[in-house]
Amino acid sequence: MRVAPLAGETDFDGWRKAARAFRQAGVPPERAAFRVGTGGERLFDEGLPPPAPNAAPFSVSRAFVDLAQEVVLHRSEDRFDLMYRLLWRLGAEPDLIKIVTDVDVADALERAKNVSRASHKMKAFVRFRRTEDEAGERWVAWFEPAHRVLEKTAPFFMRRFATLRWSILTPDGSAFWDGESLTFGPPATPDMAPSEDEIEEFWKTYYASTFNPARLKTKAMQGEMPKRYWKNLPEAALISGLVAQSAVRTEAMVATPAAEPNIRLAKTLSRINRDRSFDEGFVPSSLEELGLAVQGCRRCPLWRDATQGVCGEGPRQAGLMIVGEQPGDQEDLAGRPFVGPAGGVLDAALEEAGIDREDVFVTNAVKHFKHEPRGKRRLHKTPSTPEVSACRWWLDAERRLVKPKVIVTLGATAALGVLGRKVAVTKERGQGIDLVDRTKAFLTVHPSYLLRIPEEAARAQERELFVGDLKRAKALL
Ligand code: URA
Repeated sequence: MRVAPLAGETDFDGWRKAARAFRQAGVPPERAAFRVGTGGERLFDEGLPPPAPNAAPFSVSRAFVDLAQEVVLHRSEDRFDLMYRLLWRLGAEPDLIKIVTDVDVADALERAKNVSRASHKMKAFVRFRRTEDEAGERWVAWFEPAHRVLEKTAPFFMRRFATLRWSILTPDGSAFWDGESLTFGPPATPDMAPSEDEIEEFWKTYYASTFNPARLKTKAMQGEMPKRYWKNLPEAALISGLVAQSAVRTEAMVATPAAEPNIRLAKTLSRINRDRSFDEGFVPSSLEELGLAVQGCRRCPLWRDATQGVCGEGPRQAGLMIVGEQPGDQEDLAGRPFVGPAGGVLDAALEEAGIDREDVFVTNAVKHFKHEPRGKRRLHKTPSTPEVSACRWWLDAERRLVKPKVIVTLGATAALGVLGRKVAVTKERGQGIDLVDRTKAFLTVHPSYLLRIPEEAARAQERELFVGDLKRAKALL
């Protein structure tokens, strides 16, 4: 076994140098290890390999470096090994990092997500308390991050509290800001931080005024504000009292007249509950069942702000499937795909390509409308990769039921949903790509892209290309 010594738990540079040396010397992942500090050596361990004089140089993408930098902050023991395994595999699989369904890639992305979440929580839950030292006022906080995110997150506090002198103490290390420079020190213990001061009252008043008893979900609350952080939060002292009062306060709110219910959704949900059709082992046996079950989907948070889930529509035996991105504003209300402005462009282009929409199964990669409010309008937001991955379950179920010969994907999100990897549509546009289920995927642009081209001649030209793509896809049938 070759063992690389690392200077500390977050020694990314040390890992990077060692991993580079391992790979250039051809040390496979199962023979490479990384050890923080000294101790724990075993009898047959060897150190870093000597530099290989004729080794071929190699480089990795920025995306991989960024990912590795995050994963290294994860508290898992095997994080350095995972990233080296990925680095090693990149030699034979240069596009590996784009395959979000690969076990190692998915594992690394998940760990990076956890690290980012821990950093987020730190920004939200660090509470400073006022102290005095020889130079005057200093604000001190004790915090236990879920992952080793102190150095990554400290610059946020530096920007946010630039004019104060502060310290953040954690079991991994400490950060100090004196108004000019940020420095890091050794691990700390909770007794090194003060525990109460007058600004506690501010937090308590603020929290009590924002607490909505009707939205109380203790489990979700603990998910967002895990108990591990409660001891540092002055407002946490209020939680049990507010929770105890919540039933009474909710009753008062219930007595106020309710807004119009969404009758269609309520009916669907009650049917699903009755049939108990949506559970983990559920496999929809018809498109109708699938369209109902999607209303109970909680695979990602997008259901919360959408009116309903919108599944595909068209013949069960359609040879051609068209996959868009996600329902838009009108589709969300109507419960049908491509009935708004982009649907108008698609319908006209299909007609010109000699394809009857009635013969096509039209669907989307993501079944719930992702949007953000802007005044009275709901503005479209592009679904994230995890949201598209979560929704693949539904798209795959549709694919299994319809078994199309050809799938046309409209835009990058649709391509990601169908292929399971990120693609540059312009590079892979217009060619039949063989999928494992023997379907052919055919990539083209999204009709809303055509809608956004301001110049008429350019728009007409792009539209012609789009119609051409649809004709070519039809010829593959
Ligand atoms: N855009 C899409 O991608 N799908 C729709 O259903 C509507 C607009």
